[in-house]
Amino acid sequence: MSRVAVAGGTGVVGRLVVERLRAAGHEPVVLSRSAGVDVLRGPRTALVGALEGCDAVVDVLGPTSAAAQTAAGSRAFFRTTTTALLEAGRSAGVPHHLALSIVGAARVDAGYYAGKALQERLLTTRRDGGWTLLRTTQFHELVPGLAALGALAAPGRDPRVVLVPEFVSQPVAAAEVADELVVLASGQPRGAVRDLAGPRVEVMADLVRRWLRAQGREARVVQVPLPGAFGAGLRRGLALPGPWARLGRQTFADWLAAQR
Ligand SMILES: NC(=O)c1ccc[n+]([C@@H]2O[C@H](COP(=O)([O-])OP(=O)(O)OC[C@H]3O[C@@H](n4cnc5c(N)ncnc54)[C@H](OP(=O)(O)O)[C@@H]3O)[C@@H](O)[C@H]2O)c1
Repeated sequence: MSRVAVAGGTGVVGRLVVERLRAAGHEPVVLSRSAGVDVLRGPRTALVGALEGCDAVVDVLGPTSAAAQTAAGSRAFFRTTTTALLEAGRSAGVPHHLALSIVGAARVDAGYYAGKALQERLLTTRRDGGWTLLRTTQFHELVPGLAALGALAAPGRDPRVVLVPEFVSQPVAAAEVADELVVLASGQPRGAVRDLAGPRVEVMADLVRRWLRAQGREARVVQVPLPGAFGAGLRRGLALPGPWARLGRQTFADWLAAQR
């Protein structure tokens, strides 16, 4: 049995990692604000204390503030949290740091992805080893969030129009990502491992349309090009996996059917 800290263990993928660790007989330690540990602003001593006796730390933290969607905000979040976890892990003697990043984040290196690119650099330039980096594509679970974010409606009313970024993706099931993270966390540090993507290339606006239809909601979905390098990167397919990626099994259609 291993003791594994999951930073972000209450999030979309983190809570699945925690469930799976428990089911496999390991002891997960959840690090999140709702579990009483603030990795961004909390005292370093509390973090070291929480990591004592852990065999690995899985970093699936994600910022919740709107400010962290900008390059500067995202870099600030991931610089502080990644450094805090690495330093506290070193002080507590944790031998393995495993982080989850996004396919293409380092190629886009703008907007939110600038923080993920920085997080990757903090790990991959570490001299003393002891890390594993898994990059995956967007989760199917991102689609309901995009539908909510882009909805143009008066409070309490159903939206007539939903704006969705122009974005091609090859989305993957968060459950399959969690399975992979548990396998990796149970082993030795491996450096950067093969990317994991979903089985099909999809257009984000189409996925939002299908999600809304499955909810019985009528809204016009309008694709909007996001500005700057971030938007251009998404439109040009920089977040798509290369031919070396491993592919998951669950398509968006399968995932959607499983939500009913
Ligand atoms: N979503 C995707 O499509 C996708 C795809 C590939 C990779 N990723 C990466 O995977 C990671 C997790 O994504 P997700 O969608 O599962 O995230 P999420 O659902 O937004 O969850 C974020 C987690 O971070 C915790 N958190 C936020 N601020 C914190 C703080 N200051 N201290 C401690 N905990 C904090 C949250 O818990 P509290 O609010 O309780 O603190 C929550 O458990 C992110 O780094 C993301 O970039 C995401």
